[in-house]
Amino acid sequence: MLILNKTAGVFFKPSKRKLYDFLRSFNFHPGKVFLHKLVLGIETSCDDTAAAVVDETGNVLGEAIHSQTEVHLKTGGIIPPVAQQLHRENIQRIVQEALSLSKVSPSELSAIATTIKPGLALSLGVGLSFSLQLVDQFKKPFIPIHHMEAHALTIRLTNKVEFPFLVLLISGGHCLLALVRGVSDFLLLGKSLDIAPGDMLDKVARRLSLIKHPECSTMSGGKAIEHLAKQGNKLHFDFKPPMQRAKNCDFSFSGLQHVIDKTIMQKEIEEGIEKGQILSSAADIAAAVQHTIACHIAKRTHRAILFCKQRNLLSQSNAVLVVSGGVASNLYIRKALEIITDATQCTLLCPPPRLCTDNGVMIAWNGVERLRAGLGILYDTEGIRYEPKCPLGVDISKEVGDAAIKVPRLKMKI
Ligand code: KG4
Ligand code: ZN
Repeated sequence: MLILNKTAGVFFKPSKRKLYDFLRSFNFHPGKVFLHKLVLGIETSCDDTAAAVVDETGNVLGEAIHSQTEVHLKTGGIIPPVAQQLHRENIQRIVQEALSLSKVSPSELSAIATTIKPGLALSLGVGLSFSLQLVDQFKKPFIPIHHMEAHALTIRLTNKVEFPFLVLLISGGHCLLALVRGVSDFLLLGKSLDIAPGDMLDKVARRLSLIKHPECSTMSGGKAIEHLAKQGNKLHFDFKPPMQRAKNCDFSFSGLQHVIDKTIMQKEIEEGIEKGQILSSAADIAAAVQHTIACHIAKRTHRAILFCKQRNLLSQSNAVLVVSGGVASNLYIRKALEIITDATQCTLLCPPPRLCTDNGVMIAWNGVERLRAGLGILYDTEGIRYEPKCPLGVDISKEVGDAAIKVPRLKMKI
């Protein structure tokens, strides 16, 4: 019944019995007519199994998500084969839930959109394989989705935002600044030269053993740092924002992370505690770390806004900065960015926190955007592959660096 595309590099095949039950489980709704095109979005690029059905006008008809955060917190990071196994165990249920909640049967869909790049190979493979089976079964068009493009365009689902706009994507796997000129037209202004801010926050949270903190035990690293920072004093530690002399829009977090690691080690000696116990100064460290990365992110973004204004790349009357990705749910970082947008007369827009982290809605919405623009809709999926590494748009970061724009100092009173 199912033909697996070997080029997809995935070998996940639910039993025929299970699949038959899955397909039979949909209620069909005779007489029900959908006025708008409907897209099912499927996301498995990292550690969330997510699906959603969104209509052409942006109505979210149904969504479901299974987060692996708790499992990965226990193992101290994402182990790709574990993530793959959890995606395999949950994808059928999650897609089924999203469809059932939306009261849409697969035959009523206009297309199926799935993240195929970038991300963890083993995780991407599960979503792609599952989607190709659905596409084949129901003879639907397939829309391959770039995970970061989907994060960038989510704002157009929640707000009326026209192209072009500037986007800052900050998550566990990515850190980039791009100008969005169209549905699949991006100019990359800057990116992290090493790790992403969420990755760094996760590492610092692990080093601080925040999983053992009663208030933070189920939170992601970044969320735990934000939570604890509220109880701390950022002035007790003085971490310098990275790359202060580089007049470009790139980012760096690993040097800062090593400095923090060293500070934590020193504090452990001072407080006479073993690695793995919680420092009495953990909240102060969290506050200082959060402040330092907020300043770093704000400064690079400030330069990107000035570059775009200098080159007339943004709307004169309504320049917009969109911030998204898991780290964008951090309210302290948002406030730092607000200082920048206030100073540059830009509008700062962020999707609601649940749409900042990975979700199925953003994938379905990207499918809708592509469907409306007639871009990247596949009627034949022969040869389709997932791509663990994939840049976003055209990289003009060198040109941005060559412009060497000096950024005026702003008081970061957050
Ligand atoms: O976008 P996302 O769900 O997944 C990808 O990385 O693509 O982002 C997850 C990252 C994690 O590193 C997590 O620690 C971070 O976002 N994060 C936060 C917050 N909530 C999640 N970082 C800072 N503050 C938060 N409130
Ligand atoms: Zn993401």
